[in-house]
Amino acid sequence: MGHPAASGLSAGTDLVPVLAVASGKGGVGKTTVAVNLALGLQALGLTVGLVDADLYGPDAAHMLGLRRRNMTRSITLFAARGHASSRLEVARQHGLQLASAAFLMGESQGLGVQAGIAQLLVRRLIADADWEDLDCLVVDLPPGSADIQQFVFALAGRRVHVLLVVTPQVVAHRDAHRLITELDRHGAVIAGGVENMASLTCPSCGATSELFVPAPPEESIWGTVPLLASIPFSGVGAHEADNGLPVFVTNTVPEQVSAYKSLARQVAALLRAPD
Ligand SMILES: Nc1ncnc2c1ncn2[C@@H]1O[C@H](COP(=O)(O)OP(=O)(O)O)[C@@H](O)[C@H]1O
Ligand SMILES: [Mg+2]
Repeated sequence: MGHPAASGLSAGTDLVPVLAVASGKGGVGKTTVAVNLALGLQALGLTVGLVDADLYGPDAAHMLGLRRRNMTRSITLFAARGHASSRLEVARQHGLQLASAAFLMGESQGLGVQAGIAQLLVRRLIADADWEDLDCLVVDLPPGSADIQQFVFALAGRRVHVLLVVTPQVVAHRDAHRLITELDRHGAVIAGGVENMASLTCPSCGATSELFVPAPPEESIWGTVPLLASIPFSGVGAHEADNGLPVFVTNTVPEQVSAYKSLARQVAALLRAPD
C-alpha cells in the first residue's frame, strides 16, 4: 500500500519513472548532480521534470538561474481538482520543467513546517504541477532519510530509483550506509552512486590529485553500490552554479560534462528497463 499522503497523484505523473537523487550527508552535491543529470537526460531526447523537494534548502531553482523575491503569506496544501488554485505552474529553464519548493516561498524565507505538512508540500509539487509530456521525473531530495525522503520512496507504491551522491570522505560513506538501510526497508531500487568532488586538476600544471582521503574499503559504499560516475572538483563550475549557470549548459568544465553525459546514458537505460 502506498503512503497515505502519496495517494491521488495525477494521471500525468503516475506512470512516469522517478529518479530520486539522495545522500546521507548534506553539501555533497545532490542538487548539482540532479540539475546536470536532468540536463543530460534531456540532451538524450527525454522530456524531463525536475522536482526540487528540499524544502529546507531549495537550491535547484537558484542553480538554474531562477529567483523568487517576494515573500509568501500562505501556501495552498490541498485544492479540489479543477479549482483555480489546484494547479502549480512549472517553471521552464534550459528546456527543463521545474517544480520547486522555492516557488512556494520567498528567497530569504525559511519553511519551518512539521513533517506531515512537508509531505503534503512535496506531494503537491509532484502531483499538482502542470507537467507537460514528461518522460521522467528527477527529484532532488534533502539530505538524510527523514520524512520527505520516506514519502518519495513510498511514492504511490511505485518503484523509485535512487541515485546516491557521496564525496570520497568516510563520513559521507557512513551516512550513505544509514540511508541504504532505509532504502532497503522501503523497497526502493538503488540505481547506483555518484562520487562527487572525486579529484582536483591543478589549473596551472594540469596534475590531478585526490581532494580527500577516500573512505577505507570496509566503510566505502562502492563494495555494494555500482559507481556510475566520478565528478571531479571544479571551482569554476561551482562559481557558475552560484550564478545560475549549470556546467552542462556553459560547457566550461569538459571533464564534468562528459561524466554527466555518461551518467545520463546509464540512468536512461535503467529507467527504461522493465521492473
Ligand atoms: N564537483 C564539484 N566541484 C566543485 N564544487 C562543487 C561540486 N559539486 C558541488 N559543488 C558545490 O558544493 C556546494 C554544495 O553542492 P550542492 O549541490 O548544493 O549539495 P547538496 O544539494 O548535496 O547540499 C555548492 O556550492 C556547489 O556548487
Ligand atoms: Mg541540495
